[in-house]
Amino acid sequence: MHKFGHLLVMDDKHSEGAVIRAYADGPLLVRGDFELRDEAGELIDPGRATIALCRCGRSASKPLCDGTHSLLKKRREP
Ligand code: FES
Repeated sequence: MHKFGHLLVMDDKHSEGAVIRAYADGPLLVRGDFELRDEAGELIDPGRATIALCRCGRSASKPLCDGTHSLLKKRREP
């Protein structure tokens, strides 16, 4: 598990092909050619080609989404 402060790095080598899509009340889905690095610049192997980055701040697997955002949405619904 990693703390916040991770960077999604796309240098010249990785500037083509990476697509980041925001989902309403959910994560940022990252597909394509990318590198995920921690605050020290160390490479993080996400173990898959497509990742979901948490943007609600509640994931226990930061920086990756663990689905907790869906529980938050349900709590807000009447
Ligand atoms: S966006 Fe899914 S847990 Fe935060």
